[in-house]
Amino acid sequence: MLIALGVTGGIGAYKAVEVVRGLQKRGHDVVAVMTRSARRFVGEVTFEAITRRRVITSQFAPGANADIEHIALASDIGLLVVAPATANVIGKFANGIADDFLSSLYLATRAPVLIAPAMNTNMLEHPAVRANLQTLASRGVRFVDPGEGFLACGWIGKGRLAEPEEVVEAADRLVRPVGTLLGRRLLISAGPTYEDIDPVRYVGNRSSGRMGYAIAAEAARRGAEVVLVSGPTTLDAPAGVRIERVRSAAEMARAMSTHARTVDAIVMAAAVADYTPERPHDTKIAKRDAPMDLTLVRTPDILADLGRARGNAPLPILVGFAAETGDPRARAREKLRAKHLDLIVANDVSRPGAGFETNTNAAFLISPDDEVETPVQLKTELAATILDRLERLLAAHSARV
Ligand code: CTP
Repeated sequence: MLIALGVTGGIGAYKAVEVVRGLQKRGHDVVAVMTRSARRFVGEVTFEAITRRRVITSQFAPGANADIEHIALASDIGLLVVAPATANVIGKFANGIADDFLSSLYLATRAPVLIAPAMNTNMLEHPAVRANLQTLASRGVRFVDPGEGFLACGWIGKGRLAEPEEVVEAADRLVRPVGTLLGRRLLISAGPTYEDIDPVRYVGNRSSGRMGYAIAAEAARRGAEVVLVSGPTTLDAPAGVRIERVRSAAEMARAMSTHARTVDAIVMAAAVADYTPERPHDTKIAKRDAPMDLTLVRTPDILADLGRARGNAPLPILVGFAAETGDPRARAREKLRAKHLDLIVANDVSRPGAGFETNTNAAFLISPDDEVETPVQLKTELAATILDRLERLLAAHSARV
């Protein structure tokens, strides 16, 4: 899909280069439209080199039939993204001012519009800017929220351009076809579990929850009804997902079995603790000089129990994960069989870029009769690959009945 990326004169303009790359990685063609002030921050040659297209900088560029160009582009594009968007361009869009190529393109296109504002905190909070944002939102313009962080002006606060990957993800979501999981119900688990030792201490693990959240977000975007059972994480609930927050393996087991009977597929991405303290203390344990023994007992194997409960029934489809150090395939195959799974996502967590607390992952997708290796890719991309496989399993099941 052809996407126009409007770049305006903010310090975050250099990040727009990463936005171009991210969109290209997801298979989109990008044409960059730079305002005059954007060119004071980044050279148009940079965008020309990575988009491999002429960068549009002016409504009246010599050689181009400019009056027509913005109309032609307006109908060719599937999406207009503006990142970073200054208070100025937001004001122009909101008030219908068309004094350069980008603002004319905004008025001329019927494609969806996504704006990533970036400005100083006080400017962002100014009633004039807020009113303009409100106006645009009421017209259906979508936004990627500016993150908090160090602003170029030395302040800390809201206003910094969102991370390029967030802009790419939001843009991709607006243009990719949806609905392939419409009418399907999915139950997904994510994150670690915390097993309490006493009211202030627990046994936990390094799972961030990102993989499971990415699968939940992608499944919802594809139209599925999603219940996400999440262990403790710092992540926000993905849009359109029903979230149930739990703490321990026992709580997660209860939540999963409550929903399991009514879903088409279960994806068990949580890093469930295998052991829990035998007797958590009601009060804080005070230290002593002697060494301390902590007896841990096994938690329920949630996925194995779900596999047993399903028995020979074809649904729900069961997808598990296996985090190993070293080549994960043999142990993953063993787990696939022992837990009666349809698919297992196995990864070597000791490999760089493929484990806990990273944005990327690499894995083997193993089913009883198939094995596919995925490259190191963003967890959001791996989520899509896993769901593509799951869709095929669901389709095969529908064909059988
Ligand atoms: N799992 C579960 N309940 C548990 C432990 C794990 O449902 N108590 C699920 C995980 O969510 C994951 C898969 O089982 O989908 C992982 O299998 P498991 O045999 O527990 O592997 P690990 O704990 O990763 O490794 P190992 O048993 O080899 O230590």
